[in-house]
Parts: sequence; C-alpha cells; structure tokens
Amino acid sequence: MKYVMGIDLGTSSVKVLLVDQQGTVHYSVSKDYPLIQQQPGYSEQNPEEWVEQTTKALQQLVQEANVHPDEIEGLSFSGQMHGLVLLDEEHLVIRNAILWNDTRTTPQCKKIDQQLGGKLLEITKNPALEGFTLPKILWVKENEPENLEKTSVFLLPKDYLRYRLTGKINMDYSDAAGTLILDVVNKSWSADILRTFEIPASICPPLVETEELVGTILPEVAELTGLSAKTKVFAGGADNACGAIGAGILSEGTALCSIGTSGVFLSYENDKNKNYGGKVHLFNHGQKDAYYTMGVTLAAGYSLTWFKETFAQERSFEQLLEEAAQSSVGANGLIFTPFLVGERTPYADAKIRGTFTGIDGSHTRGDFTRAVIEGIVFSINESVEIFRNYGKTIDTVISIGGGAKSDVWLQIQADVFNAKVLKQKNEQGPGMGAAMIAAAGLEWFPSLRECADVFIQADKVYEPIPENVQRYKEFYQVYKDVYPHTVAINHQLFDIRNK
Ligand code: XUL
Repeated sequence: MKYVMGIDLGTSSVKVLLVDQQGTVHYSVSKDYPLIQQQPGYSEQNPEEWVEQTTKALQQLVQEANVHPDEIEGLSFSGQMHGLVLLDEEHLVIRNAILWNDTRTTPQCKKIDQQLGGKLLEITKNPALEGFTLPKILWVKENEPENLEKTSVFLLPKDYLRYRLTGKINMDYSDAAGTLILDVVNKSWSADILRTFEIPASICPPLVETEELVGTILPEVAELTGLSAKTKVFAGGADNACGAIGAGILSEGTALCSIGTSGVFLSYENDKNKNYGGKVHLFNHGQKDAYYTMGVTLAAGYSLTWFKETFAQERSFEQLLEEAAQSSVGANGLIFTPFLVGERTPYADAKIRGTFTGIDGSHTRGDFTRAVIEGIVFSINESVEIFRNYGKTIDTVISIGGGAKSDVWLQIQADVFNAKVLKQKNEQGPGMGAAMIAAAGLEWFPSLRECADVFIQADKVYEPIPENVQRYKEFYQVYKDVYPHTVAINHQLFDIRNK
C-alpha cells in the first residue's frame, strides 16, 4: 500500500492524518499545545511546542499505524494563518509567534491605512486587519526593534514546522496572501509595501506553489520519528485553503462553512478582479492560479469551548449539544454575540466584546448553549449576506470542522443560511486537504480535482426547514442590532480595562 500524510498545524493542536490512495484515513493522531495570553488581546505560541508535539504525533503514528515507513511516500501541511515567526541568522526563533487571533495591532493597522490608502487593497486585495502579518511586523519594529534587527527571515507557522522537518525555508502563495505584503495577483512580494514601511526585502522567504516539492525529511528527523528520509515533502497551504481543498471547493459556484477555533465562510473565486470592496478577504487558493474569498468570525468554536470550560466543565460537548437540541429555535429568546476576542467580518473591530442579550429567569443551560451555537452561525451568516449582496448565489454549502459534527449544528446552519448544507463522509477538515496536496504532488492524480473525485464523498444533506428559516430571520435581525447598540459601551469598557 501507498500512503500520504496531512499535517494540520492548528491553533489548539496539531493533527496528523495517514491516508491511503482511496482517501481512506488509516490512522490519525492529534496533540495539543496551549495559547499564551499575557494580556487581553495578546495571543502567542512557542514554535518549539509545535515541533515537539508534531514529533510526538509522528512517532506515535509510525509506532502504531502498522505501516512500513517506506510506504509513506509524501506529506504536506495545512497551517493556522498569519502567525509571525521570526528567525535569526542561525534560523533560531527570536520570540514567541504572534498569532492570527492576537489583536494588539490596531495602531499599526491605522498606520498602514494612512500610509498606503487605496494602494493596499489594490496590491493585497485585503484591508489592514489586526490578525494579518504585516501589522505584527510593524508592532515588533516599534516595540521590540532589537528583535526585528536580529531577524534574517520571517515565516508563518506551518512554514516553520516544515523548515524543522526538511531544513528548507519557503512560504506558499496561499499562506503568503495572508501576510498583507504579497502582491496577490502577480504572486510576488510587494516592493512598494516593503519600501513604504522600511522592511528589508531580505526577510521575506522564497515563494513556492502549494503543491511544490520542497524537499525530503532530514535524516535526524527520520531517526527521531521513525519516518523514512525519502518521504517527499510538499509545501502545503493556509488552513482555509486546505479546508477548501479537503472539501472539494475547487470550482466556481462552491462554498464552504468551516467552524474550527475561528469560523470561516468561503467561496471559490476564479475572477481575481472581483471586487467585494475589501469587505471579505481575497486570497490565493492552494489550487494554482485560483482564488477564494472569505469572511471570518474570530471566536467560533472558541466561543463554545470557552462556554463549556467556564460554565459546564463536567459536561461533554455531546451532552451540551443534546441539551441545546431540547431548546427552541432562537434559544427561547436568548441571543449571543461571539465577539470574545473582537471581530473580523463584517465589523473589523478589535475592541468589541460578546454579549448574552435577553437573559430570562426561565433560561436553562440548554438555552445558553443553543444561543452560543446560533450566535456563531448568525455571525457567519453576516459573511453569507455580503456574498449574496454582491451577487453570489449561495444555495449549497459544504460544512466542515466542529460545526459539522452534530445534527443540531448542521440544521441550524441550513436554517440560518437558508441553503442546503452538505456533510461529507468521514470529514477531516484541512488535514485532508494537506494529504490531497501530497497525493496530487506525488502525481497519484493529474490534479487536485481528480483527487477530490476519489477522496471526497457526500454523506448527508440538511435542507432548510421553512418555518425555522422564517423564525431565524426575525432573530437574526435582532442579532444584527446588538453590535450597533453595544459598540460604544464595549469600547469604553475595553479602554478602562486596559488603562
Ligand atoms: C483566517 C484566519 C483564521 C486562521 C485560523 O484569516 O485568521 O481562520 O487561519 O487558523
């Protein structure tokens, strides 16, 4: 048998999948690592923990999967986007990585807007948002200049992991698109942006295609993990690009809802000049010369995890979801806004915070859990609305991630989006996209699309239920009113707290 591995370096864990030529997952293993949150708005990780936990996962896989290492022909990566990893001349990590959900960079975003104006959207196709990499580089420049001076190259999380496994320094286009330094259409680092902010071009890594073969496993890594040093390593891509590949979002007219730590609504785009006025992101796809547009809810799965850990530690997610199923459409009049770490789409507001509105003495834990789930889906629906307002037809949505693991979640998505929601058999998220990149890179298939035909199978369709759709429309209007009514007090609270 022949196998590939998909390594998904997520925000809370790394997940490694071993997949055969039919797309069947032969073995999977996941290892956690913590977030480092020194103050509100800060979110960092120690890159060494990514390497340690991935090494442990690979060791376990080689020991337990019952496969000869030579049969694992290739591997590739999916990674949390935007996180800034700085390396010195010896390629040692200079400071903790600053992650996508870190929102300390509002002043740097303002500076980018002031200095680049409309040019930014023209070149990068995106607005300046706290989560992106350029504002993080500027933050380091202003607050820790000695760290930027020491920097020989910057990488994104999965690129650093790949470097440690192969010794090769690269960044692929789908991830580079999230730096806000890439000229997205011309696929090159923007000299204009680098010059404007006096960032040396030398710290930008060489760019490669997502499917490109970048090397093989280093002998010392092979020895440590038990993998073969002949295993071919393909560049891999951003987690959202890989989620799209793994769900078969490879042609115009397909859309994806991915609920992991963050929530993403994403649509395939082959028109690079399509203009959404910067309201949604436009990034290079992992499929060569294609693009995708997406809106992001920063705290999606994170909101439910926070809720469980804070108020229902002793319950499992399954128990909580069962209780939520007993509540009603609209959670008996309870509304949650998932702005626990600020918000991206549609508000781009690092200071906004979450709310429960309409708490009543009769509300149960089931109502609260349901309100959290509905609030996450309402927030993602704000992205769906943007797409529809710009003329995209969204009638079928493929759902992946934690949000695709329960009937309640999936039906709420169908009812709120007012679209058919498709669940896939044995859905594995971005890790499967990474495995497909390796499978296509090894030329097991002529293209990712042909690989998707074999690897991906539909499981179940959730149709919108008309009376629920109507009811949700009413609650959604109220949900949308919460932001404008709470923005001023939330900003005030944020400022007082951070004085
Ligand atoms: C996308 C984003 C998140 C991360 C999560 O712009 O910030 O979806 O990629 O890993």
